Amino acid sequence: MSRLISQVIGCGSYLPEKVVTNDDLSKLVDTTDEWITARSGIKKRHIAADGELTSDLAYNASIKAMEHAGVTADEIDLIVMGTTTPDNTFPSTATGLQARLGMTHGFAFDIQAVCSGFVYALATADNFLKVGQAKTALVVGAETFSRLLDWEDRTTCVLFGDGAGAVVIRAEEVDDSEENPRGILSTHLYSDGRHKELLYVDGGPSSTKTVGHVRMEGKEVFRHAVTNLAAVVKTALDANGFESNDIDWVIPHQANKRILDSTARKLKIPSEKLVVTVDRHANTSAASIPLALDEAVKDGRVKRGDLILLEGMGGGFTWGGALIRW
Ligand code: UT7
Repeated sequence: MSRLISQVIGCGSYLPEKVVTNDDLSKLVDTTDEWITARSGIKKRHIAADGELTSDLAYNASIKAMEHAGVTADEIDLIVMGTTTPDNTFPSTATGLQARLGMTHGFAFDIQAVCSGFVYALATADNFLKVGQAKTALVVGAETFSRLLDWEDRTTCVLFGDGAGAVVIRAEEVDDSEENPRGILSTHLYSDGRHKELLYVDGGPSSTKTVGHVRMEGKEVFRHAVTNLAAVVKTALDANGFESNDIDWVIPHQANKRILDSTARKLKIPSEKLVVTVDRHANTSAASIPLALDEAVKDGRVKRGDLILLEGMGGGFTWGGALIRW
C-alpha cells in the first residue's frame, strides 16, 4: 500500500529593509536596550516602509521559495497564507498573491491564527495534499505587525517586527513499508478561546470599524506559552514514536528568547538545537517560523534527512506543532 506525504521542496523569506534597534525605540518610549534584551532577547527588528504591504513581503518570500523549489506558478494549485495583518479586510491577501504570481487556477485563502498562523497554514495545506485535493502548495506566513502596534505602549511595541517566509510543499507517493520517509510526518493544532483578554487587538471591522492595537498581559501569555508548547512538542514526538533527543532542529515561533529556552529546558532539548532569530527579527507573528526555517536551511544547518520540529503559540489562544523529516 502507498500513501501521500507532503514533502517540503523549497523555502524562502523576506525582511523589509528598514531596521529599528532597541536604542531607536528608547527615543520613542520609556525603555532601554538593557530591559528589552534582558526580558526578551530582542536587539532589533525590521519594519515595513510606508506603503509596503503584507502582500509585498509575501510576494518576495514566495518568489524565493518557488525559485528554491524550482517550481513556477503554473505548478502551484493551492496557496494558504497565515496572516493577522491582511492588506484589506477582504479579499484575502492570499488571492492577491495568487494574482500577482500569475496563477489563474487552483485556490487561495488566508488563515487567522496570529502567531500560530504558519503552523495552522502548513497543517491545512498538508491535509489538502494528503487527500489529493491539491498537488503542490505554497504556504506563507506574512505580517506587517507594526501596523497593529500602539507606539506609545512600551509593553508591546518593543516586541514585534515585520517579515514573511514561505515554503513550497508537494504531495509525493510513499510506500507504507518505507521506514524513514521525507516529508511532514504529523501536525497538531490546538486552541482555547477562554483566554482572549490576555492577548488581543482592541478593534476590528465588526466591533469598532477600526483596525485596533495589540494588547497583552505578557507574564500570563508567557506562562501559557511554555506549558502549551512543551505539551505540543511531547504530543508530536509521541505520535511518531520519537524522543526529544531524536530531534535535530527545533524551529520555534520567535516571541521571546526566554520562552524558547524555558520550553527547551522543560523538554531537555539542548539549546544548540534551537534555531533563534528573535534577537534580529523580534516577533513577526505568522512569519517567524518560516523566516527562521529559511535561515537555517540556507546557512546549511538543516540538512536532508534531519528531523525538524516546528512549534508556535499565539492569540486565541492558538498553538500547534509539526514534525518534518527534511
Ligand atoms: O507570540 C506570542 C505572544 N507573545 C508572547 O509570547 C510574549 C510573552 N510574554 C513576554 O515575552 C514577557 O512577558 C514580556 C517580554 C512581554 C515582559 O517580560 P516580563 O518579565 O513578564 O516583564 P513584566 O511584564 O512583568 O514587566 C516588568 C516591569 C514592569 O514594571 P513594574 O510593574 O515591575 O514596575 C513593566 O512596567 O517592566 C516594565 N516594562 C518595561 N520597562 C522598560 C514593561 N515594558 C517595558 C519596557 N521597557 N519596554
